[in-house]
Amino acid sequence: MSPRHLISIDDLDRAGIERILDRAESFAEVSGREIKKVPALRGRTVVNLFYEASTRTSSSFELAAKRLSADVVSVRSAGSSVDKGESLKDTIQTLSAYDPAAIVIRSQYAGAAQLVAGWTPAAVINAGDGKHEHPTQALLDVFTLRRRLGQLDGTRIWIVGDVLHSRVARSNILGFKRMGAEVTVAGPPTLIPRHIEALGCQAKATLDELHKADVVYVLRMQHERMREAFVPSLREYAARYQISTARLTPGQLLMHPGPVNRGVELSSDAIDSSQALLGEQVKAGVAVRMAVLYELLAASPVLAAVA
Ligand code: NCD
Repeated sequence: MSPRHLISIDDLDRAGIERILDRAESFAEVSGREIKKVPALRGRTVVNLFYEASTRTSSSFELAAKRLSADVVSVRSAGSSVDKGESLKDTIQTLSAYDPAAIVIRSQYAGAAQLVAGWTPAAVINAGDGKHEHPTQALLDVFTLRRRLGQLDGTRIWIVGDVLHSRVARSNILGFKRMGAEVTVAGPPTLIPRHIEALGCQAKATLDELHKADVVYVLRMQHERMREAFVPSLREYAARYQISTARLTPGQLLMHPGPVNRGVELSSDAIDSSQALLGEQVKAGVAVRMAVLYELLAASPVLAAVA
């Protein structure tokens, strides 16, 4: 069997996404048990390789693999031989010597996961490559919304903030659209990529029409990817684009992939409001990543082979 990977949310059609979400529902049930473990990947090895900061994604991939009974090796760039100058290719070849079933990779470079797929016989899962894609984030967000709303068809989702540097924005626009939602991105023009409409969304420079949204999905300002000032000041950004309860209408749902810069893109009252789904998103991360690992390693193919 040729290796299959999850590099982009585009690797999945709507039926493939739905199948992962349905599988995730059954794994969410496992996560509700006292003994949160099933034997599906017993004896298989999952390597998590994180070259960039991560709390949620790395911990949930680790838990997901462990709850499927896989042996898990987690490597962070800090403290590894990467610090000693080992190249990504050499690191992958070294780790491939353990014959892992899957390698989960986060890197600051767009395209890194795709490259890794060419260097290892393992299935490769993209846990975020630069500002390119973060497909499991899109899946867990679709899962969270589907649980709340039943389905996403016709749901109006506004993605607000630093769209330019956000891999979450790219994967989520594609994922939300594929599930039938209408997507609008909004933020300062300097932080909205030119031609973003080509992905099938609308773009706005103000929040004047935010009341039309059913879901407000807020993004963090990605300072680590900025080499220049994209907004005059964080104060000014917050004044125009910060989402607070005052800017939300009562029925709207609020999401954010985390980590949040409290007081910048989101106010504390919004984070703590009953409209916020942030905790549900984190919880969904484990079940959805279990489902992705299961579909790639244990089930029959849903993911297209990556050339
Ligand atoms: C996101 C990421 O790393 O792209 N975080 C995450 O995976 N939950 C978003 C971010 O860092 O702002």
